[in-house]
Amino acid sequence: MASEYDILFEPFKVKHMMLRNRIVCPPMVTNRGITTDDGIEWYRRIANGGVGLVIVEATQTARIGEDIKVDGLKRLVEAVKAEGAAIAIQLFMSPVDGRNNPNAFTIEDIRLSIDRFKRAAAVCKEAGFDGVEPHGAHGFLLNQFFSPKSNRRTDEYGGSIENRMRLALEIANAIRSEIGGEMILLYRHTPKESNGYTIDESLTLCQNLIKAGVDVLDISPASENRPGDLAEPFKRALNVPVIAVGMMGIHERAVEALREGRADLIAIGRGLIADPQWVQKTIEGRLGEIIACRYCNEGCFGNLRSGKPVECIQHKGSKQ
Ligand SMILES: Cc1cc2nc3c(=O)[nH]c(=O)nc-3n(C[C@H](O)[C@H](O)[C@H](O)COP(=O)(O)O)c2cc1C
Repeated sequence: MASEYDILFEPFKVKHMMLRNRIVCPPMVTNRGITTDDGIEWYRRIANGGVGLVIVEATQTARIGEDIKVDGLKRLVEAVKAEGAAIAIQLFMSPVDGRNNPNAFTIEDIRLSIDRFKRAAAVCKEAGFDGVEPHGAHGFLLNQFFSPKSNRRTDEYGGSIENRMRLALEIANAIRSEIGGEMILLYRHTPKESNGYTIDESLTLCQNLIKAGVDVLDISPASENRPGDLAEPFKRALNVPVIAVGMMGIHERAVEALREGRADLIAIGRGLIADPQWVQKTIEGRLGEIIACRYCNEGCFGNLRSGKPVECIQHKGSKQ
């Protein structure tokens, strides 16, 4: 039976990869480990709920292939793929010997960091991931290199926009040369003027990232004005799929962002923590059975910060 939500469930092709629908689980640190039984079961449940693409949480590049081993990653990938979802993983730029801001980084630290992204991507490829996503958003280290507010370097990695985006482009190029043409390269970016750069600068960054091999832009966070309004300029100006995120677990917001052409894919974060079966229940018209996120931020962001396993407080120990 046709429904107003059908637009969310149209398949979508990214290069050779066919996603079964437009819903993406965005990267969300779970505090469960990604190769533990608990962590793998978490991601299996999300995939079982029907999303098209799961992006596994921010994971330190320095850990991939070290304590996070390829065999564990293979188990994670197999569990998610067996449920019919595609799987990517977000790669988080690690500090070097405690140095964790652009100004403290030596040129050797930068070289090492690029190499870590490259190696991490190689391990992820071996494990069978469909894609990798450098975390260039939310004011973390890689994002800091792009922001003149945090990056005061006077060498070729600071100052002009060419210099501030150099690291991101070198990382994208390094990953692309490592993974070949098939695997999907995503990039998460926050286009916020309060970060010290303009939307035009964000567009220039993303345009150049695409030239360097990025296939999908993950634009986060969306502002509260209209769903996906921060994704829209990227969708309009650039010829790659764009993911919008931000309270899209409210059906009308997700539909509006797609229908009005502000994005190609919709990421639902806290809404999937509240109810991993969001997609399946919507497809089956069981909307009243969805455990709707109340955006109270207790079990998700609260537990994230206190180091406890992330879990919606509405579950209260039940198996959802
Ligand atoms: C518990 C939790 C962990 C998160 N971890 C990450 C992360 O690892 N990487 C990232 O880019 N964003 C992270 N986010 C942000 C989400 O990916 C998403 O952008 C945000 O929750 C907004 O979407 P929502 O309104 O649908 O929840 C996290 C959010 C939550 C709630």
